This record gives sequence, C-alpha cells and structure tokens, in this order.
Amino acid sequence: MKILVTGGAGYIGSHTVAELLKAGHEVVVFDNLLYGHKESISCPLVVGDLLNKEEINQVFEKEKFEGVIHFANYALVGESMKNPGKYFESNLQGGINLLDAMKAHVVNKIVFSSSCAQYGFPEKLPVREDESKKPVSVYGETKLLFERILAWYDKLFGIKNICMRYFNAAGASLDGSIGEDHTPETHLIPLVMQTALGQKEKQIIFGDDYQTPDGTNIRDYIHVLDLASAHLRSLDYLINENKSDNFNVGTGTGYSVKQIVETIKKISGVDFLVEIGPRRPGDPDAVWADNSKIKKILSWEPRYSSLHHQRN
Ligand SMILES: NC(=O)c1ccc[n+]([C@@H]2O[C@H](COP(=O)([O-])OP(=O)(O)OC[C@H]3O[C@@H](n4cnc5c(N)ncnc54)[C@H](O)[C@@H]3O)[C@@H](O)[C@H]2O)c1
Repeated sequence: MKILVTGGAGYIGSHTVAELLKAGHEVVVFDNLLYGHKESISCPLVVGDLLNKEEINQVFEKEKFEGVIHFANYALVGESMKNPGKYFESNLQGGINLLDAMKAHVVNKIVFSSSCAQYGFPEKLPVREDESKKPVSVYGETKLLFERILAWYDKLFGIKNICMRYFNAAGASLDGSIGEDHTPETHLIPLVMQTALGQKEKQIIFGDDYQTPDGTNIRDYIHVLDLASAHLRSLDYLINENKSDNFNVGTGTGYSVKQIVETIKKISGVDFLVEIGPRRPGDPDAVWADNSKIKKILSWEPRYSSLHHQRN
C-alpha cells in the first residue's frame, strides 16, 4: 500500500515508518522537521507544514495514496497551556487542511494519533474508550476536538478514521538505531536516563503525596514498537472493514514514577540523586488503559512494553 505519514520524522512516526517499510508498504513522509529528524527515516521526505495548504495539496497531486497516518501535531502539554492559539491552530487547522486535501484527491482512510490526554482525570480505572472526555490541557482538548472533526468528515464525505488514543509512548528500536530524541524533552523515561548518564545533576519527582501505593503518579507506558504494530493493524482494519473506530493503545498495566526511577537505577547501575518536588498542576493520580477493545477488534497484543522485558 502507498501511505502518506505526516509527522513521520518524529519519535513515534519514525518507528512506525520503519515497520511499514519492513511490511512492504510504500511510504512518503510529510514533516516540517521542527521536532523531527530526517536521519531517522529511510523513505522519501517532503519538508512542509500542514498549515500551508499548497504544500500539503502538492503531495497529493504528485502521488496517489491509499491511506494517511497523521502524527503531525504539536505535543508539549505545558507549552499548550502557555500558547493555546498555537496548538488550536496547528493541531486543528493543520489537520483540517490535511482532510481537505484528502477529500480533494479522493483519499478516504486516515489513522490519527489521538491521546489519553482527552480523558483528563478519569473516573474509573482502567480507562475505557467510553470514559467521559474532560481534557485538563489545551493539548488534550485539541485531540478531542480533532476526533469530532474526523467524525464529521466521515459523516459528510465518507473519510474513514481510526483514532488511536495512545497512553505514554516509551522505548526505542531494538537495534538502537532510532529512539526518542526531543528538544525540549518532557517525557519521564528519557529524562531519568539523562540523569543516569550524568547529563543532569538530579531527578526531581513532581509530588509523592498522590493516592497511589508509593505516592507517585502511575502511568501506562506503551513501547513505541507496540504502537507501530497497532498502526499496521489499524490500516489493515480500515482497508478490510472500511469502518471508523477509536482504540486505547496502552498495556493495561500502570507503573509509578518511583518504579520507573528504581528500574533505571538498577539497569544502569548508577545511583543518581532523586529529589521530591512540588506537584505539577493537571497531573491525575493514576491513568492506565483498558485495552480489551483493541485486543479484541484488531487482534493486537503489546509485545515489548513490560518494564522488565527480557529479550529472547
Ligand atoms: N509521545 C507520546 O507519549 C504521545 C502520547 C499520546 C499521543 N501522542 C501523539 O503522537 C504523535 C507523535 O508524537 P511524538 O512523540 O512522535 O511527537 P514528535 O514531536 O516527535 O513528532 C511529531 C512530528 O510532527 C512534525 N510536525 C508537527 N506539526 C507539524 C505541522 N504542522 N506540519 C508538519 N509537520 C509537523 C514534527 O516536526 C515532528 O517530526 C503526536 O500527534 C502526539 O500528540 C504522543
């Protein structure tokens, strides 16, 4: 299949592109390279921004795609609260420009990188897809709103969508050739790794008085290769079933910040300094996925996501 991957030079995109190529798909990446790395992909790259209608339209004029995987969003929660306009404009208008270009060129299948951020402070754990949607960040709000926009493009024009609500992405390729490389980095695991490598003096944990067994936040860390395989499954589903749907993509298990820190200490053999700091606003105590829907409908299983995974 010929697939357009927006944001394919970014963290999750580049790992998914590698798996798509391995599975024999033809891939073109569209990315503004603001956060992506062109060295991370080995397929044609079009450097462009989704806010530029002409740039995205030209891609569809040159090639005929069977489907689109849409990763290209701004994804820094903290920044979205300081500069909401940037997030609403890029994540929503950018996505609309993509959908209009798809409509104009009769491409009617899209997989979207949604997020568990739209659930906000979940009422029930594990979190199911039908949990109430009350985002506590502008970033999470853009994910919820774009899912609604996708539903209208399905209803009005028959563009079928799969919304993949990722939990916390983690990990790297097994051969270490690509991995997570964000500037600025805001994700826990790479930040703790940087501390273990001596690049930071200490690791601060934001609060240890949450309602969890060790007092630190619990999250569901999903390996980037498991995210990649979920995208391949969702493309097959769109082709075979031609139906829109949404799925949680998580492991179904939560780990606390302290468990992550202790595991990295153990694996690295470095006993770095850890300090407890104040809570950050907007952090729910615990979030982990009910992943029974994606397991059942897409026959998907996480393979690499255990904190204690042994390579075989
Ligand atoms: N990393 C996570 O834990 C996580 C969790 C849930 C959802 N997501 C979503 O998954 C997607 C990928 O996340 P990631 O961690 O790989 O982020 P990333 O920043 O590494 O990748 C996003 C890519 O999109 C590009 N991009 C952004 N806006 C663009 C635009 N307007 N036009 C063209 N290119 C643009 C960036 O340059 C980057 O290469 C995002 O939509 C993000 O919101 C990520």
